[in-house]
Amino acid sequence: MTSTTATPPVLRIADVSHTYSGQRRRTTVLKSIDYVFERGTFYTILGPSGSGKTTLLSLASGLDTPTKGTISFDGQDLTALGLGRYRNKHAATIFQQYNLLTYMTALQNVTTAMEITGTKPASGSRKAHALRLLEDMGLDKAMATRNVLQLSGGQQQRVAIARALACDVDILFADEPTGNLDEDTAQGIIDTFRELAHEQGTCVVVVTHSQHLAAQSDRVLHLRKGKLTEQVNAR
Ligand SMILES: Nc1ncnc2c1ncn2[C@@H]1O[C@H](COP(=O)(O)OP(=O)(O)O)[C@@H](O)[C@H]1O
Ligand SMILES: [Mg+2]
Repeated sequence: MTSTTATPPVLRIADVSHTYSGQRRRTTVLKSIDYVFERGTFYTILGPSGSGKTTLLSLASGLDTPTKGTISFDGQDLTALGLGRYRNKHAATIFQQYNLLTYMTALQNVTTAMEITGTKPASGSRKAHALRLLEDMGLDKAMATRNVLQLSGGQQQRVAIARALACDVDILFADEPTGNLDEDTAQGIIDTFRELAHEQGTCVVVVTHSQHLAAQSDRVLHLRKGKLTEQVNAR
């Protein structure tokens, strides 16, 4: 797929700074960050613990607003578009702590997300589609119909991934999505991310500690001392 320069980028981060104000002191986590994310591209973000990776994702996914600067989707400021609308229609997030609805089964977590976002599968019911996605993630029907608290950490992580994949979005964010997974499962998920970007044109942005994962992405970004820089990959 070739990209045209005429259309606005799917996500633009312009002069974004973010400061947390505590009772005693203020911590500036992000310092005047500029970056443009394109459709059909798989990005990874590396950075030491505490460098602000989760903060950056929470701003880019419309959960929080930056203390300075603007973030725009398809050329429109997120606050003008509406953060709720952006999160419902355009962006899906796989959280570091999964954020599953703990009183529901794995299957209900996936179908509820589809209902909230108004996602209808190309064919078949939401339930059938959700079961298929969970199955792809290695969770059979017995596991899918179990309360999520009765699943292991790695299984919960895969439910969170299936939930995000179930919604038809322009941008997929994931915060250390393979942290709790064995190598084979992690590789399957990396392959899914790459396909999503390259075959469906999704913009995929993944925070990771894994050099192995980063090496398989199209663009590798580093967050350090509040600044985001791009690594030039020799591939
Ligand atoms: N809600 C918050 N209030 C105050 N400080 C926060 C908050 N969230 C994160 N921080 C601080 O911001 C810095 C970056 O955190 P975070 O974005 O979680 O980093 P990372 O995901 O790279 O580990 C850390 O110093 C953290 O303590
Ligand atoms: Mg984090």
